[in-house]
Formats: sequence, C-alpha cells, structure tokens
Amino acid sequence: MIRKFQATDMFSTIRIASETLTEQYSPNLFNYFYETFPELFLVSEKHHKIIGFITGIQLTEEIARIVMLSILPSYQRQNIATELLNELILTLKEKKIKQISLEVKTDNKKAILFYKKHGFTIIDTIEKFYQNGENAFMMKRTLQPY
Ligand SMILES: CC(C)(COP(=O)(O)OP(=O)(O)OC[C@H]1O[C@@H](n2cnc3c(N)ncnc32)[C@H](O)[C@@H]1OP(=O)(O)O)[C@@H](O)C(=O)NCCC(=O)NCCS
Repeated sequence: MIRKFQATDMFSTIRIASETLTEQYSPNLFNYFYETFPELFLVSEKHHKIIGFITGIQLTEEIARIVMLSILPSYQRQNIATELLNELILTLKEKKIKQISLEVKTDNKKAILFYKKHGFTIIDTIEKFYQNGENAFMMKRTLQPY
C-alpha cells in the first residue's frame, strides 16, 4: 500500500535511508520534507511495516525534484519503487508540474537503470556533488510540455 508519510513513520524511514543510502540525512531534513511538502513524501507499507519511501520537493511552480528514494534490500526488484514513483508522478501532474529532476551517484547502476526505465535521461554530470567528493548525474524527465 502506498500512502502519505505520517510522523510515526519517521523512525522506519530514517532506518531504511541509513541502510540503503550512502549519504547520511539528518532527522531534521526528514521533518523539513514532511512539514514543507507532505503530499510529496510517500511510503510503501506491507503488513504494517514500512518497506520503502520517496520524498520530493517543489523547486518552482513547474519543477519538482526527487530527493530520496529508498527500498529495503529484501523488497527490492518487486516494483515497490515503481509504485512509489508512479504515485508521486500522479500528485505532481495534479499540481501541474512539468519537469522532474534528481541527482544520482554516477556509480549507482541500479538507480540509473531504474530512472532510465521510467523515462529519465542524464543531462549533466555534477562534479563532487556529494559530501565525500563523489560525482552525480543530473537526470530529468518531462511530465508535460511547456
Ligand atoms: C534503486 C531502487 C530505488 C530501485 O527500487 P526497486 O523497488 O528495486 O525497483 P523496481 O522493482 O520498482 O524497478 C525495477 C527496475 O529498476 C531497475 N533495477 C532495479 N534494481 C536493479 C538491479 N539490481 N539491477 C538492474 N536493474 C535494476 C531495472 O530497470 C528494473 O526493471 P526490471 O525489473 O524490469 O529489469 C532500489 O534499488 C534502492 O532502494 N536502492 C538503494 C537506494 C538508492 O540507490 N536510491 C536511489 C538514490 S537516487
């Protein structure tokens, strides 16, 4: 089941992020996403357990950005991320968002393949984007023409 993030999901989502993402995100950031863009913070729940989540932010009236997408390892490759992304895209379309951007580590093959499968293309490389000096690809997908 995909649903909006609730405050009680905080611990689970932070745990999933720390298990799956190499960057560390502070709990304050999770709070910020929840308070500022609650409709763009979604979780996937199975048998009362949070197994993945996605967070987006709105950059401008027409552009949104995916900040985090993370699925517990034992639930990966079961379309959970696809369901989360599709639900987020529905919300973004309702908000008349025209373009989604994101950054992904240049060596994160799984995520790059995932986003390419969902219509994102690499448009740039950002040198030393991450705290540890690693590079990122910027990827974009157009939702509706300008
Ligand atoms: C990237 C990630 C979110 C994908 O989640 P998922 O639920 O496994 O993805 P889905 O099952 O919905 O989508 C699968 C598609 O993604 C790609 N993919 C996902 N895992 C893959 C893998 N191990 N090898 C190759 N392709 C992979 C494929 O295109 C696949 O389609 P296919 O099964 O038809 O070949 C997940 O691997 C993850 O949480 N990784 C760790 C966190 C991370 O890197 N997040 C992205 C940071 S920007």
